[in-house]
Amino acid sequence: MLEKVLYPTDFSDVAMKAFQFVKQLNKCGVREVVILHVVDQRSVDALAIYTDRDFLGIEKAWEENVMEQIRPMEDELKELGFQVTVRIEKDVPFSSILKVEEEEDVSVIVIGSHGKSNVKEMLLGSVSEKVVRKARKPVLVVKR
Ligand SMILES: Nc1ncnc2c1ncn2[C@@H]1O[C@H](COP(=O)(O)OP(=O)(O)OP(=O)(O)O)[C@@H](O)[C@H]1O
Ligand SMILES: [Mg+2]
Repeated sequence: MLEKVLYPTDFSDVAMKAFQFVKQLNKCGVREVVILHVVDQRSVDALAIYTDRDFLGIEKAWEENVMEQIRPMEDELKELGFQVTVRIEKDVPFSSILKVEEEEDVSVIVIGSHGKSNVKEMLLGSVSEKVVRKARKPVLVVKR
């Protein structure tokens, strides 16, 4: 039943807590993990505008930084025997998560309740809230 997991990450503490959970899912029969990071084009644009640096340079540095963070996670999962797919998408985070859910035909989404903002008063972050509302498959929310 639980064969393929979609794990979207913004590399926040809560998303890393969700990663610790994902790593244990081989005990429940999970064989494959799709690690997804969505580069929010709005953030890249804002950084390019406000720091007055060239756009392509920022985009390249951004992608390199993302890969540096994903590679150790990918290695760790592979060592545990998971098959791993890494997807880096340029999009609005929640739409991309829902798109990849369909494309990869996953069994479950494992997501952090909060992310980088981690506002104390919020029950869920805006990305996890939209994913919980709109996903077709079960969503497992790992609390902060
Ligand atoms: N850009 C992203 N790419 C992939 N997954 C993401 C991305 N942003 C958030 N997530 C996933 O959603 C979870 C919740 O993050 P979310 O962004 O909803 O919370 P937040 O940052 O605290 O709030 P907000 O973004 O609304 O200010 C994260 O732990 C992560 O699993
Ligand atoms: Mg966020």
